[in-house]
Amino acid sequence: MTQTTPSLYAKRRAQLAAQLRAGSVAIMPTAPERARNRDSDFPYRHDSYFFYLTGFTEPNAWLVLDANGRSTLFCQPKDLEREIWDGYRLGPDAAVTALGVNAAYSVSELDQQLPKLLENQQTVWYPFATHKGLETRVDGWLNAVRARVRFGAQCPAQQRDVCGPLDDMRLVKDAYEQDIMRRASAISAGAHVRAMQTCARMLRAGQDVREYHLDAELLHEFRTHGSQFPAYTSIVAAGANACVLHYRADAAPVRAGELVLIDAGCELDGYASDITRTFPANGQFTGPQRDLYNLVLASQDAAVAATRVGARFTDPHEATVKVLAQGLLDLGLLNPNHHGNAQDVIDKRAYFPFYMHRTSHWLGMDVHDCGSYVESSELGQTSERKDPLSGESIVSRPSRILREGMVLTIEPGLYVRPADKVPEAFWNIGIRIEDDAIVTKEGCDLITRGVPVIASEIEALMRA
Ligand code: GLY
Ligand code: MN
Ligand code: MN
Repeated sequence: MTQTTPSLYAKRRAQLAAQLRAGSVAIMPTAPERARNRDSDFPYRHDSYFFYLTGFTEPNAWLVLDANGRSTLFCQPKDLEREIWDGYRLGPDAAVTALGVNAAYSVSELDQQLPKLLENQQTVWYPFATHKGLETRVDGWLNAVRARVRFGAQCPAQQRDVCGPLDDMRLVKDAYEQDIMRRASAISAGAHVRAMQTCARMLRAGQDVREYHLDAELLHEFRTHGSQFPAYTSIVAAGANACVLHYRADAAPVRAGELVLIDAGCELDGYASDITRTFPANGQFTGPQRDLYNLVLASQDAAVAATRVGARFTDPHEATVKVLAQGLLDLGLLNPNHHGNAQDVIDKRAYFPFYMHRTSHWLGMDVHDCGSYVESSELGQTSERKDPLSGESIVSRPSRILREGMVLTIEPGLYVRPADKVPEAFWNIGIRIEDDAIVTKEGCDLITRGVPVIASEIEALMRA
């Protein structure tokens, strides 16, 4: 993984330290290694918060930061034998310069040093409910401080969740982060192009195409361009499988005449991309497929137009639903005699059987990135309404106001399962179109358009 100058991370640590109250210490562990089976581990992936503050990707590491900005790293010690088996370790001595921290120790000294770092402080910050067993370890360190109270030591009396300030910081991506996200998006777009073209070429050659063939093309393109992993498990869904929202690439045959939905994005240097495209397996949309596809695309256009500085996070979703509601009536998937007009469809959520997810989520280091979806300055303003489908009462708060540098997905879809009163021509069609958008002053920058979305452009690409 790319190592950058430590100054970027030092700046973030200083920003976080400035938000901790005087007399505070923040503790941030990285992610644990996880066993897959017997003595094989899952590929290691650092913790995003820890990486955001250190740029350090080794396991068994902790950052401790106090409100004065003093940072202490605990990491794996140099160990020739372990390094022969598992690879290079930075080690505490080199970490001070390489990561720009004030001090570094072997992780074996954590239990010895932490009580010293916590002594005479008032507040301990750590990530709540994210690292199994962390609360117990904090309890242990606090108890070690308490054991010294009779000698005059002060024990922190308050505990706070460090994810709060970090979530707000991570929500707005700086130029460095945006650059990585653009590169991740370009790789992922290339992977979608490759999968589309391979699909059409194999079918033209009369080959048996399976979902896993297309998954292999995605992985090839990701790794060829330096991505470390897929950012999430790729969805490659042929035909009716596209109506299963969390379908995984499996072994189903990909047949001419059916659509294929691929939701896949790579992770590059710690940042995710997230793209969905839906395309005809043989490169030619049928009439009903095209009608539905163009409706989803029009709804995405409306959402893109609603994404800009000052808009609310929910505005793109509302714009999407408006277009979909009218389109479902126009195409006969909803009957106006029964459902009324588009506003009625929205009010009664009658579109829900065809569009059951939200249009956007934050994107960043995590594919469903951190960050509150509520505007923090308006937290107290609650409103209550009844959900028209479940009858449950829902309390909502004003949605987040979009700011320059926030990154979100825009991913409308329609999923048509066989049902009475739904024209058979649309049965088993599942369509989603997903792009990643950086919010700008003028609107938003779609960073994933290296793979086309317009139906005729997809057809041209697949003929090539
Ligand atoms: N690929 C995950 C999502 O679109 O939310
Ligand atoms: Mn997404
Ligand atoms: Mn996705």
